[in-house]
Amino acid sequence: MKRMAKKGTGKLEGLCVLVLAAGEGTRMESSLPKVLHPAGGKPLVYYILRLANALKPSGIGIVVGHQADDVQKQTQDTARSHAFNRPLTFIRQKSPTGSGGAVLEAVPFLKKFQTAVVICGDTPLLTYETLYALVNYHREQKCQVTLLTAKLANPRGYGRIIRSPLGDVVKIVEESEASPKEAAINEVNSGAYCFETQLLMDALKEIKPTGPKREQYLTHALELIRSKGGRVTAFMSSTPEEVLGVNSRIQLSQVERVLNRRALDRLMLSGVTVVDPSHTYVDTDVEVERDTIIQPGVVLKGKTKIGRECKIGPYSYLEDTQVGNNCELRFTQAVAVRILEKSTVGPFANLRAGTVVGPRAKIGNFTEIKASRIGFGSKVPHLSYIGDTDIAEDVNVGAGTITCNFNGETKNKTVIRAKAFIGSNVNLVAPVTVGRGAKIGAGSTITEDVPDGVLAIARARQVNKS
Ligand code: UD1
Ligand code: CA
Repeated sequence: MKRMAKKGTGKLEGLCVLVLAAGEGTRMESSLPKVLHPAGGKPLVYYILRLANALKPSGIGIVVGHQADDVQKQTQDTARSHAFNRPLTFIRQKSPTGSGGAVLEAVPFLKKFQTAVVICGDTPLLTYETLYALVNYHREQKCQVTLLTAKLANPRGYGRIIRSPLGDVVKIVEESEASPKEAAINEVNSGAYCFETQLLMDALKEIKPTGPKREQYLTHALELIRSKGGRVTAFMSSTPEEVLGVNSRIQLSQVERVLNRRALDRLMLSGVTVVDPSHTYVDTDVEVERDTIIQPGVVLKGKTKIGRECKIGPYSYLEDTQVGNNCELRFTQAVAVRILEKSTVGPFANLRAGTVVGPRAKIGNFTEIKASRIGFGSKVPHLSYIGDTDIAEDVNVGAGTITCNFNGETKNKTVIRAKAFIGSNVNLVAPVTVGRGAKIGAGSTITEDVPDGVLAIARARQVNKS
């Protein structure tokens, strides 16, 4: 039944998308508006905007109410930063009068369009293919309302679909109002609908407040339209997980799991080995190239990009980090870092923002690097802190070397030129420069620049007493 369609092939004139995002999200128990909660590294509203844009409607309306200013600003920023360029219209719902109340506020927007796709801001897993198929089905069947439904093993919390013997939809019954027999129905309302707007607008005026909060339920519009002779049908999704709505943090975690699995599937299908997908966490936008192997315990966040034939993990956390081809990273944390090709990092390394490593560099265990460059073929193999430092090529930094970049007031730079050799347990008190090919004796505390090619020793002479 489900039709597949390529993005952009659906020219749907007179179509708008209306997103409902004004609800209080009470069950989230949060001071953050529900649609701004992150999943897959993006606010939930991102997924809805992406979906709405993909349908190429003539307009997108977004009903905001609870914390409206925050939701509107973040939604605009998200649309801008992802180049979602369909026109957005924000509609204010002044009081939380229910999903029907939200659509009623949107009438001045809706009346400009013949057909409206209404979706909830809290169903981020809906796919373009399904929504496109819903609109197509609605048109082909010449319905006045078509709603997207799914059969769930556990329908708890969703509106149940009551069908006529011929299969048309008679009404939607919310769980709070369902009889035991109705509650046993496992076909549920996804909260996504396709309406002929004129009939919807007529019905909205007649929806009576109901339920414990005296809300106007959008779902009641369906029976009103049917009572006026309109045809109300359902289009059932073949992938029930798509309709998952986020009302609680438990459902948010379920959405996170599905988004993660989708991201992992995408990587695996493009030639990445994921050794244990159930213990690997990848954000929506992460890119990894062919023949890279991801071991368990890896978390890839934000705009992370990994090249070809890398070995990542076990246990690494990379955020907004770029890794070139043929790198190996074990038990590594890197945030806003660039690791260039054929470099190895870890185990137990912490690379901080602004760091550039490689190519062919080696960062070893218990090493922290902050805002520094570690040049071609250079090594910081053991137990070091390197901060605000520029290390050129073929430098060896001995175990336990520390750059003393902070004097209590300002941060200062260390420069280590090519082929320098820093002995073990050296303190480099910045600002300081170590010259090309210079050597520093183990245990030295270097406070003055070291010229090219010399050996510097700055430590107390040993005395053996008896
Ligand atoms: C709703 C449906 C239910 C469906 C489920 C799917 C109704 C009455 N029930 O229930 O049949 O199975 O979604 O996930 O619609 N909203 C506003 N303004 C308000 C109240 C809500 O804009 O005053 C928005 C919310 O932000 C949300 C949507 O409407 O995006 C649905 O509201 P919610 O409270 O989440 O309804 P559910 O109980 O999930
Ligand atoms: Ca909901």
